[in-house]
Amino acid sequence: MTSIDILSPEAAEAALPDLAALLLACVRDGASIGFLLPFSLPEAEAFWRDGLPALESGARRLLVAREDGRIVGSTQVGLAAPPNGRHRAEITKVLVHPQARRRGLGRALMREAEAVAAAEGRSLLILDTRTDDAGEALYRSLGYVVTGVVPDYACSPTGVREACTFMHKRLPVPVGQTGP
Ligand SMILES: CC(C)(COP(=O)(O)OP(=O)(O)OC[C@H]1O[C@@H](n2cnc3c(N)ncnc32)[C@H](O)[C@@H]1OP(=O)(O)O)[C@@H](O)C(=O)NCCC(=O)NCCS
Repeated sequence: MTSIDILSPEAAEAALPDLAALLLACVRDGASIGFLLPFSLPEAEAFWRDGLPALESGARRLLVAREDGRIVGSTQVGLAAPPNGRHRAEITKVLVHPQARRRGLGRALMREAEAVAAAEGRSLLILDTRTDDAGEALYRSLGYVVTGVVPDYACSPTGVREACTFMHKRLPVPVGQTGP
C-alpha cells in the first residue's frame, strides 16, 4: 500500500535513520542534490537533522512517500520568504528510492507538495533540477515551465560541473487573496 504523509518535527526526528538511508541511496545512485561522493550515512542523517528547526518553525514542510510502511520517497516545501514573497513556495529535494522509481511516487509527492503550498495561500512554485534529468521530465509533466538554465551551476556527485534548470508553475490564486 502507498501513502503520502506530512511529517511533524517529532515524526521526522523518529524517521531520521530511514530518511538518511533514502538520501544515501539516491546520492550513491548519482542524484545531483547537493552532495559529493564519498557520502556516508552519518552525513545523510546530519542533513535531515539540520533541517529539523525549519520544520519546527513552520518554515518548511516535509512529505514522505511510504510503500507498505517503509519510507521510499520524500520532498520538502519551503514556505520561508521575505514579506514581499509570501505568495511563493520552493519545492526541494524530491527523492524516490532508486528501487521504487517509475511507479508514480514522484508525481504523487509533487501533487501533495502543491496541495500543501496551495493550502498556505502560495500561488507561485519554484524549483530547480539538473538539466535533462528525470526531475526535469517529472516537473514538465506536471506543468512547470523553464525559467532559465544556468550552465556549470553545480557539481555531480563525482565532481563534474553541470547545468541546472530553474522552473516555475503558477497555482490558482485563492478566492479573496490579494497578495503579496
Ligand atoms: C526525479 C524522481 C523523483 C522521479 O521519481 P519517480 O517516482 O520515478 O517519478 P514518477 O514515477 O512519478 O514519474 C512521473 C513522470 O515523470 C517523468 N519521469 C520520471 N522519471 C523519468 C525518467 N527517468 N526519464 C524520463 N521521464 C521520467 C515521466 O513523465 C513520468 O511519467 P510516466 O512514468 O507516466 O512516463 C526520481 O527519479 C529521483 O528521485 N531522482 C533522484 C533525485 C532527483 O534528481 N530529484 C529531482 C531534483 S531535486
